[in-house]
Amino acid sequence: MASTSVLFVCLGNICRSPTAHGVFAHMVEQAGLTGQIQVDSAGTGDWHVGSAPDPRTCAAARERSYDLSMLRARQVDAADFHRFDLILAMDNQNLANLQRMHRQTGGSTPGLFLRDFGHGLGVTEVPDPYYGGADGFDQVLDLIENASRHLLKHLQQTLRS
Ligand code: 4NP
Repeated sequence: MASTSVLFVCLGNICRSPTAHGVFAHMVEQAGLTGQIQVDSAGTGDWHVGSAPDPRTCAAARERSYDLSMLRARQVDAADFHRFDLILAMDNQNLANLQRMHRQTGGSTPGLFLRDFGHGLGVTEVPDPYYGGADGFDQVLDLIENASRHLLKHLQQTLRS
């Protein structure tokens, strides 16, 4: 069977993209597609490299039965554009940074996760929850669960065709 790969990208790789990583990997596993869809996440910034996800991110995810505790932050690098079929930014600022890198590296063209895969959300970016309250982490999960469901459907179709 064909296979594909997805890289989720935010700024620090400690809040939004590890959430997408954990949620989408869980859905992939539930669909029995772990061997066909490789999932990873990274940050455009390097401040948190090597760190586990933010404790508030882990707690909000755990409430919905996602375990993010094994994830560690890393920074996007040039090789990622050739390793991953889909590179999905959480917001426009990170998309712009990825597009700047892509002009140098070639490879996969970066996209915007909610714009490309969210349905009926009314927003195209996952807001940065880092400096906000606990509600922000739940909202991140709501947005990411929606777009992840549609991303999985899309990949199931492309893997079959
Ligand atoms: P993330 O959130 O990009 O969703 O991981 C942030 C994490 C850390 C910082 C900003 C955003 N920071 O400024 O350190």
